[in-house]
Amino acid sequence: MKVGILTAGGDCPGLNAAIRGVAKTAILKYGMEVIGISSGFLGLINKEYTVLQESDVSGILTLGGTILGTSREKPFKRSSDIPNSVDKPKLSIKHYKELGLDCLVCIGGNGTQKTALLLQEAGLNIISIPKTIDNDVWGTEVSFGFDSALQIATDAIDRLHTTANSHKRIMVIELMGHHAGWLALHAGIAAGGDVILIPEIKYDEKIITDYLVERANKQKNYSIVVVAEGIFTPKMKSAGHYIAKLIEEKTNIETRETVLGYIQRGGSPSPKDRLLATRFGSSVADLIAKKKFGCMVALQNDEIVSVSLNSVSGKIKNIPKDYSLIKQAKSMGTCFGDEKVSINKPI
Ligand code: F6P
Repeated sequence: MKVGILTAGGDCPGLNAAIRGVAKTAILKYGMEVIGISSGFLGLINKEYTVLQESDVSGILTLGGTILGTSREKPFKRSSDIPNSVDKPKLSIKHYKELGLDCLVCIGGNGTQKTALLLQEAGLNIISIPKTIDNDVWGTEVSFGFDSALQIATDAIDRLHTTANSHKRIMVIELMGHHAGWLALHAGIAAGGDVILIPEIKYDEKIITDYLVERANKQKNYSIVVVAEGIFTPKMKSAGHYIAKLIEEKTNIETRETVLGYIQRGGSPSPKDRLLATRFGSSVADLIAKKKFGCMVALQNDEIVSVSLNSVSGKIKNIPKDYSLIKQAKSMGTCFGDEKVSINKPI
């Protein structure tokens, strides 16, 4: 059998571990041929690819980014890079057939899952792998990339504690996560954030500023505010900038902001992400051998399962309203901006 692999959407640590997992299992266990398609779906549209031998995926387990390159090109959506006169779906299907593929493995986030379903419905054999630092892909407890970004963000917030303490400042850090708050919630708790703002919880500006003033009055030397980039703010470029400006104006406490940005997507994958990406990749090769297409591999109860693309596409996995981690953080006095938190008594 002949397998095509592409990586699409925002890059993250673990992509090469996933490519390696698919390719090594396909080649060594099943004697399959493997084709690496360049730059995500753009490579499928333009028929840009390389044949992957086992040697090509040797030594990439710990490598950040993706050896295939990626893009945000979506065959079923208009884009600025390709003229609208170009029939991208037709070219994608044509090139899949010309390459003689028996299956195309699409590694990506929500946009990729949507495209994967559309290509499956167009008659291609598709299997996808959930990838994103946002951890907002439906159907899987976690996507790879999340743990590495969590480690980076937690380390960054740890560092903010020392400088905030030295200057008796309020430090605001904006984390990625698109429209979900998984990264901000977990890093905020792991690194002792005092205020954590996430898209899933509507915040009241006065609750936040009153809480920070009360902290200062209770001789808490400094405060750390963790903000997910996707929270609601009036038309502002950066959520972190908006919140930092608001806090300094309302509390008169010196406040500084950090937008951690693409640092969260760089570097070598964490051991957890290496393991998860490898498990996902290797399981995909097994599914191909069984000709089980039209699905996404997922982590459920620490097992790798396959879920239908139909059940995943078009959905975003947000943090549930009654998420236990939020309740526990609130009982320890963390402010989420929706309820008044008194410094002296846990709610
Ligand atoms: O989906 C991953 C992500 O890093 C989001 O957290 C972020 O909002 C977005 O990608 C940034 O997109 P781009 O890489 O196209 O600037």
